[in-house]
Amino acid sequence: MQRQRHAAEIRAEAIGKRYGAFEALKAIDLDIGRGEFVTLLGPSGSGKTSFLMILAGFERATSGRLLRDGVDITAQAPEGRNFGMVFQGYALFPHMSVAGNVAFPLMVRGVGTEEIRRRVGEMLERVGLSAHAGKLPSQLSGGQQQRVALARALVFEPDVLLLDEPFSALDKNLRAAMQDEMKRLHREFGTTFVFVTHDQEEALALSTRIAIFDRGRLLQAGTPRDVYERPIDRFTAEFLGEIDLLPLEGAHRDGDWIVGRFEGATLAAPAGPLAEGEAPLIGVRPEHVRLTLADATFAADDNAVPVRLVDRTYLGARTRLDLETAAGRRLGAEVSTSDPAAALPDGAALAFVFSRADGHLVRDAASPA
Ligand SMILES: Nc1ncnc2c1ncn2[C@@H]1O[C@H](COP(=O)(O)OP(=O)(O)OP(=O)(O)O)[C@@H](O)[C@H]1O
Ligand SMILES: [Mg+2]
Repeated sequence: MQRQRHAAEIRAEAIGKRYGAFEALKAIDLDIGRGEFVTLLGPSGSGKTSFLMILAGFERATSGRLLRDGVDITAQAPEGRNFGMVFQGYALFPHMSVAGNVAFPLMVRGVGTEEIRRRVGEMLERVGLSAHAGKLPSQLSGGQQQRVALARALVFEPDVLLLDEPFSALDKNLRAAMQDEMKRLHREFGTTFVFVTHDQEEALALSTRIAIFDRGRLLQAGTPRDVYERPIDRFTAEFLGEIDLLPLEGAHRDGDWIVGRFEGATLAAPAGPLAEGEAPLIGVRPEHVRLTLADATFAADDNAVPVRLVDRTYLGARTRLDLETAAGRRLGAEVSTSDPAAALPDGAALAFVFSRADGHLVRDAASPA
């Protein structure tokens, strides 16, 4: 996906939120460009909903500022913002028909009856619900209710659409279908989307950028590729899928590389933004690991660690291999099931090999509490 660079439409500057003594958000800085699809990703309780509510204006930040196109909107009421919102558990009006739900935001904005009829009709067409216009929400499936909530949030052509875990109640297939739908709506409407989820794959699949939240902090924001391939710290690295993290001893800079010792081996990875002495880990994603026989010869730009095979898990097309180093540290790799390494006996002596360029330095420290 092309990296999007816009002037920020929304800028959060050191946004903090306290509930009594509890600090739910700690100095969040985030720019959201026009037309972006930004996903707030993090575990339960990390502050995603709190941050979204502050963007919407339903909650007031206890510190910091919120700017829109450079104008301070920190204290602006939600009605003044013209943002669409899909809440966690979609909150449809139960006694209104599908068409009534979708018409509601237009009615409160004083749009004329004929135009309401036309726009509701078009919107229901777009989300594939024309045949259900007269039903009550309780007469719809979960996925259909979800689409009503989306239609209601989009019908008044908001500048920004805020979505809080809109698919959490849906089964896997319906969820995939709704993700495609969201991608299509985002493309067609050009609206700025701010989306909350704690599903990593959903975030990677949908977003132009992902903002990783943990315990009220924003740890890292970047394109899906940035945060997956270049996580800054251990939390982000481990939250976004499988990764092997190898602690380096005596790490030092050598030209464009950071070089150090791991058990008996010398390992290197491209020097990144981390300062020397930040106790770096070398992280490598399983798709970059090759397994070879222990006595194979390696290229000069390979990192190689001797390991033994201790277990394997058949995953269909792929097989996951559990490995152990001489010092008893566990590493993992994934190979194609047709790879000869998938059929090796337990205890086989192997080398865990990855290109220096595929290693990535990761900060060990957990984010401060
Ligand atoms: N009104 C409130 N009063 C007190 N504490 C609150 C309030 N709202 C949220 N919190 C606390 O703030 C923290 C962040 O909550 P928030 O709802 O933003 O998390 P979240 O990331 O959306 O989690 P989830 O994935 O479970 O929806 C939690 O510890 C929560 O208990
Ligand atoms: Mg939430």
